[in-house]
Amino acid sequence: MAKRIPAVLVLALTACLAWQPAAMAQSSRNKVDIETRFKEAMADPKVADELYKVGRKVAAVCANCHGDGGNSTKPSVPNLAGQNPAYLLEQVRQFADGRRRYEFMEGMIRAMNSDEKIGMVLFYSAQDVVHKPTADKALAAKGQDIFSKNCFRCHGDMGRGNDQIARIAGQQTEYLRSTLKRYRDGPNTRANSIMTPNTKLLSDNDIEALVAFVSSMP
Ligand code: HEC
Ligand code: HEC
Repeated sequence: MAKRIPAVLVLALTACLAWQPAAMAQSSRNKVDIETRFKEAMADPKVADELYKVGRKVAAVCANCHGDGGNSTKPSVPNLAGQNPAYLLEQVRQFADGRRRYEFMEGMIRAMNSDEKIGMVLFYSAQDVVHKPTADKALAAKGQDIFSKNCFRCHGDMGRGNDQIARIAGQQTEYLRSTLKRYRDGPNTRANSIMTPNTKLLSDNDIEALVAFVSSMP
């Protein structure tokens, strides 16, 4: 795993190495696939509770970038707090099988066993998103206009998505900007995304307005 981590990410690497023993201690569960384990957790509150605690531990490693409780403090790193569980799980699958490309996260996810993956999904989806008001109300109003024409039908009036679609409300500014531009312009790091046709007609100004509005949605 260390091979996959860029040398500059010393902090994260240190955290990763410190985390290995816990991952290995649970390696007996490595063979259980995440679909089976997720179903077990959904059917049995005791399993869900056990995995939630595993997830809370794993989250200590992720906090370097994704923030405490999944509220990122880095504009380029996405919040995981309040994200929909099925969406998070799908991103885990996509990082694991290479449909979603981001080298650091691919390595991170490959190093996690099923319990850790499901646990972090249960943990993060249950955390509250910290609300950040916008600095530019006029720009956000323009973004609201675009949102209510082009985005709400999938992401919902409140930007909270549903069990298949990402929550975007309160997401980090720079992550929103770069994600929307990558959907629009490539490189295509998220295979066959339905977001590619849905960003084609957005100008850079539209994207700035959407970023101002969406990042400030509660
Ligand atoms: C070195 C910083 C770093 C660390 C540590 C890190 N991540 Fe990430 N993570 C990122 C970045 C940056 C992205 C955005 C990738 C992109 O642009 O596609 C991301 C994306 C994600 C996503 C997709 C979110 C979305 O909205 O689609 C998930 C899920 C995720 N990380 C989970 C984790 C978990 C779980 C851990 C801990 C085991 C972790 N990350 C540790 C930097 C990090
Ligand atoms: C036809 C349905 C649909 C429409 C319309 C749509 N989206 Fe999406 N969006 C999705 C789905 C599904 C995903 C999940 C990830 C993927 O497929 O790439 C997503 C993902 C995203 C993400 C990435 C979330 C993350 O955490 O990485 C952002 C940001 C986003 N959409 C913003 C928007 C904005 C802004 C608009 C309006 C201009 C919009 N979407 C319109 C379906 C839609």
